[in-house]
Amino acid sequence: MLFLLLSLCSPLVSSRVIPHHHATELFRGREGVPAIGLHLTTSYATAAIRHENETIDDLLRIEADSGYINLMSRWADITTKQNCSTPWEKVQCRLARQKRNVNKWLGRPATPDVGILSAFLTELKSAVEGTIGLPLTRAYPVFPMLPALEEEDIQDALEYTGIKWLFAERRSYHTFWETNAAYAGLGYGLCELWKDAGQCEDQERKIPLEPILFLDFDNSSFAASLQGMSTVYMHYNITSQAHLDLGWFNMPTDDVPRAKFLARIQEVIVDVGSTLVRPPTKIILLGEYADDEDFREAVKAAIWELLEFDASSLLEANMMKRGEPMMLAARGAAEMAGRAEYWDDRGGSQDAFVVEL
Ligand SMILES: *[C@@H]1O[C@H](CO)[C@@H](O)[C@H](O)[C@H]1NC(C)=O
Ligand SMILES: *[C@@H]1O[C@H](CO)[C@@H](O)[C@H](O)[C@H]1NC(C)=O
Ligand SMILES: *[C@@H]1O[C@H](CO)[C@@H](O)[C@H](O)[C@H]1NC(C)=O
Ligand SMILES: *[C@@H]1O[C@H](CO)[C@@H](O)[C@H](O)[C@H]1NC(C)=O
Repeated sequence: MLFLLLSLCSPLVSSRVIPHHHATELFRGREGVPAIGLHLTTSYATAAIRHENETIDDLLRIEADSGYINLMSRWADITTKQNCSTPWEKVQCRLARQKRNVNKWLGRPATPDVGILSAFLTELKSAVEGTIGLPLTRAYPVFPMLPALEEEDIQDALEYTGIKWLFAERRSYHTFWETNAAYAGLGYGLCELWKDAGQCEDQERKIPLEPILFLDFDNSSFAASLQGMSTVYMHYNITSQAHLDLGWFNMPTDDVPRAKFLARIQEVIVDVGSTLVRPPTKIILLGEYADDEDFREAVKAAIWELLEFDASSLLEANMMKRGEPMMLAARGAAEMAGRAEYWDDRGGSQDAFVVEL
């Protein structure tokens, strides 16, 4: 006899009839099978897979087009965030909400922004499917810390793309920052006995709270954030800045403008780290150009300026276990995906049922 577990009550798939071949893949997407982590950056996306035996492999990277890159720069700007405070804004927000609902009812992306995001997600989905040779119906996506990024847009884009958003255990909201995923990718902030909820919680309670400085130097952006971290689930942003004009691609080659550019990076780090009274316990470097010599010198200079502390050892600390800095967040997301699949399988049991074929 063959039993198939169909999670029919999840809001993302509930409106669809699931054909048989998809049902098999849904079954494959559960505990003990490959789990997929996706990392959406400001200009590209990466994916990693966590196998049944719990090892994690990098899968791929794809480039975004200018529509997506522009969307990310809008989301990096807090002033573009919809504000529903004044009576006039409230009217506008109500109209926007109605428009969203009508679009979704018509089977269109909820907003133009959702359309842009889901176009890129669709591309990513088929690239991953081409690599793993299976339909991608469930994933754990992680995102840059952009102040105007709304969870609802991500939710609608994933729904439109046909990917179920895997939900981290012990979290009341969905969006998971790339910084937190990178932390998980290094094995920090996670319990070891994750299959046993009680033991896992005991272990996690003992993880101390630490100030962690995350620095992400990518082709099209530089972001710095200081976060208070104990477990990876902590979304505690002490300060953060994302600059889409301070990416590696914008770095001049001539000495003088280059020095000025690096001084700006240093200034951002000093700004973000200004509340530190002692060195952060960890500095986590992310992004495609995290290993750039000049960038690392700017980081050291900033920490010296802040605290007269030589950060060399902190910069080296994670090198050995890290692999490609660009893949770190996707790898962490894959680990989170594996855990989410396992817990979804259990916690979700009341809204799943068994179909006999
Ligand atoms: C884990 O599984 C993957 C995929 O099946 C395989 O490629 C890899 O070698 C395995 N790793 C270990 C340590 O068994
Ligand atoms: C929204 O408007 C309120 C009141 O005008 C203001 O205090 C707040 O800073 C605004 N928020 C954003 C994100 O612009
Ligand atoms: C870096 O960004 C520039 C400008 O957006 C783009 O032309 C280039 O292809 C990007 N390079 C990589 C390696 O992504
Ligand atoms: C993080 O905190 C800073 C305040 O230091 C704020 O400007 C920024 O918008 C916050 N970012 C997010 C994504 O909440």
